[in-house]
Amino acid sequence: MNYKIEKNTVQETLIIPLYARKMCAEVYPSLYRDETALRLVNAVDYNFSALQKKSHRLMQRFGFLEVAMRQNDLAFEVREYLKSHPNAAVVNLGCGLDSTGRACDNGKCKLYNLDFPDVIAVRNELLPARDREKNIPCDLNDTSWFERIDASGGAVFFAAGVFYYFLKEQVKTLVRAMADAFPGAVLAFDAANEKAVKLMLKTWLKDAEIKDVGAYFAVSDAKREIGAWDSRLHIASRGYMLGYHDLKDPSVSGFFRFLARVGDGVMNMQIVKIGFEQTI
Ligand SMILES: C[S@@+](CC[C@H](N)C(=O)[O-])C[C@H]1O[C@@H](n2cnc3c(N)ncnc32)[C@H](O)[C@@H]1O
Repeated sequence: MNYKIEKNTVQETLIIPLYARKMCAEVYPSLYRDETALRLVNAVDYNFSALQKKSHRLMQRFGFLEVAMRQNDLAFEVREYLKSHPNAAVVNLGCGLDSTGRACDNGKCKLYNLDFPDVIAVRNELLPARDREKNIPCDLNDTSWFERIDASGGAVFFAAGVFYYFLKEQVKTLVRAMADAFPGAVLAFDAANEKAVKLMLKTWLKDAEIKDVGAYFAVSDAKREIGAWDSRLHIASRGYMLGYHDLKDPSVSGFFRFLARVGDGVMNMQIVKIGFEQTI
């Protein structure tokens, strides 16, 4: 059966945000809609019982909200870029079974979904590529995938819940290579500080009973830390829970808004946006 996600691989981590998006669409429909996640949780060959068992817990619920918010934030950044570059490439790095690219489709842009070959095999079954869309099997750390992206109309790259599993040197090497290959493009991704990344490993991965997967890449002050990698990087950062949305929806409790402030503040949970300098 092609739809199977292997246990205890970094690929398996795609299950966590997929399940979280489904739950968030059910619990917070006024904040987040995701018909695809609702459908795919039922279609994929995976035992969700470990996640289901804990899904009523308060911190789990907050985790669902975090995942949905970061998807909304990244979609916002993609739509912003498309306003000035309607024919751009919209590239989902480490896409798992996420359909944010389609949610941002303006009818002109080119959609690309990149992940390891086994994930793309599952994706090809459950979310086969449509017009102007390509599913590309690759290891993101092998930059030969660059050649597959048509960035003639510009490019906006995003990675949701992906770089935590990279070493800092890998993110740095990838970002600098992207600055060379895609001047004028933008890369947006979620990040958090070391404390938060450790906590994520202890909670999210443990609750999903995923073993042998490490989380490494952490950022506190994105402008200072990532800005030091290369002078061609223009960095912006916004809190990932409250930087794009005030969460003043009646479905969100005061306690969750407090946790959101703690997440953005103490944990430096953020959306980092890197603009690659345009060369003439
Ligand atoms: C936590 S999941 C996030 C999936 C998706 N972005 C989402 O929000 O639903 C991390 C994803 O990154 C992918 N990934 C991690 N390292 C990768 C690499 N070196 N090359 C390609 N994909 C990678 C995994 O296979 C997995 O699908």
